[in-house]
Amino acid sequence: MSERVIIFDTSLRDGEQALAASLSVREKLQIARGLERLGVDVMEVGFPVSSPGDFESVQTIAREIKNSRVCALSRALPHDIDVAAQALSPAEQFRIHTFISTSTIHVESKLRRSFEDVLEMGVKAVKHARRYTDDVEFSCEDAGRTPIDQLCRMVEAAIDAGATTVNIPDTVGYTLTDEFSAIISSLFNRVPNIDRSIISVHCHNDLGMSVANSIAAVTQGARQIECTINGIGERAGNCSLEEAAMIIHTRSKRLGVHTGINHQEIARTSKLVSQLCNMPVQPNKAIVGANAFSHSSGIHQDGMLKSQNTYEIMTPESIGLTREKLNLTSRSGRHVIKDRMQQLGYSETDYDLDKLYQAFLDLADKKGQVFDYDLEALLFFNNLADEPQHYQIQQLGVQSGSEIATATVKMQLGQQEITEAATGNGPVDAIYQCITRITGYELTIEKYSITSQGEGRDALGQVDIEARWGSQVFHGMGLATDIIQASADALVHVINSIYYAEQINQKKQNTSQPTMEEQVS
Ligand code: KIV
Ligand code: ZN
Repeated sequence: MSERVIIFDTSLRDGEQALAASLSVREKLQIARGLERLGVDVMEVGFPVSSPGDFESVQTIAREIKNSRVCALSRALPHDIDVAAQALSPAEQFRIHTFISTSTIHVESKLRRSFEDVLEMGVKAVKHARRYTDDVEFSCEDAGRTPIDQLCRMVEAAIDAGATTVNIPDTVGYTLTDEFSAIISSLFNRVPNIDRSIISVHCHNDLGMSVANSIAAVTQGARQIECTINGIGERAGNCSLEEAAMIIHTRSKRLGVHTGINHQEIARTSKLVSQLCNMPVQPNKAIVGANAFSHSSGIHQDGMLKSQNTYEIMTPESIGLTREKLNLTSRSGRHVIKDRMQQLGYSETDYDLDKLYQAFLDLADKKGQVFDYDLEALLFFNNLADEPQHYQIQQLGVQSGSEIATATVKMQLGQQEITEAATGNGPVDAIYQCITRITGYELTIEKYSITSQGEGRDALGQVDIEARWGSQVFHGMGLATDIIQASADALVHVINSIYYAEQINQKKQNTSQPTMEEQVS
């Protein structure tokens, strides 16, 4: 009978720690809701001891998410575990994930301890975590390079101490498929209490082997895959969730396993993560790349016209992509928008119909025709607009010539209104000078990009920026038919994020938490 493989998503932990600009609490919650809709069994959503922001987001997600188990990471240290448990406490059921390195190179060079010390620390950590929950996961960091005898001892001791899941990471993405398979099968053959725990795998993609190694481990008995949306994560990333899930789905007969993933949500979740994380998906990426279902060569097109399964092993519809593109105009009523959103897979709880309809009418007035991709972009930005906005643009004007540009911006700051004028070497520069003068935030713009959302010359322009504020980088987005407006919105988005992050930090100042010295991968 087909067995279930647990999908453990770590986009908001391993994925997020690799981003240039960290996500805000609201953005993380938005992604967590997407992961819940996608049907992940477990979502690892942060490393609470590492920062007040991480603590707050784990706590918020633990409070909101009901249908997936929420998990947080901790080193094998009692204080880390206590803080993780505290952050997770609003959840009815939660998982604590604790880890320590077991490979000789990590034990000797990074931890500067003996393997026996590490074994003891791991056991103590699992026992400590079990005081808070029955669901404790233990990871042997760098298991892929750990001598097999030591790995077997560590796994056995962790299970005896109460670990209900034991994770075998290929932390540096070094193993080949046959090597990783052999590690998993050795554990099943040699660890006497192995049947008391789920064996999990966590593969990094440094050599492009993460998905293959994860699936190979499943064939040897592993029943949890740790993965991320679009494969985001440290360095070359982690095993990509959508690839692992679609391999299991498409080849379920051969593999004899299944997952609880709602495949129809894959495209939407991929897009959400890509946009919020400012991590574009390469066009030829398996499953979610823009070209994953397009057939270019004449021979392939001819085959597809005769029978789709000549060149298609799965359909775009199976991951929630629709081939139909309906265009709507300002004459389309509210119910048409609601119906269309339903066909696109969004229920009314995902958005505020009044707000979306108003945004749709504004856009239809500017563009004439509004397509599905416009609606989805509006929905996404409409949700963003729900974020608190201390700083808001009220009016914006710009004049630009070949030499110099002049801009005027009127903004609201809480109850106050301020207008400023400035010149710059182009319209965006002039607008940014005004906003800097008004808000007082001197930022360094490290990345600025414009992409079109949709097709043709009247497509919506999306501006993404990454701006440095002290030691932190923030990501801001703006979407409008006018790219100057979108640029201004992106900067104001960053400034609001900084403003609210500062408030969280101030709130947490008295509950001082140790800073993370050790980076995990
Ligand atoms: O790659 C790794 O080893 C990790 C552990 C913390 C599980 O991310
Ligand atoms: Zn990792």
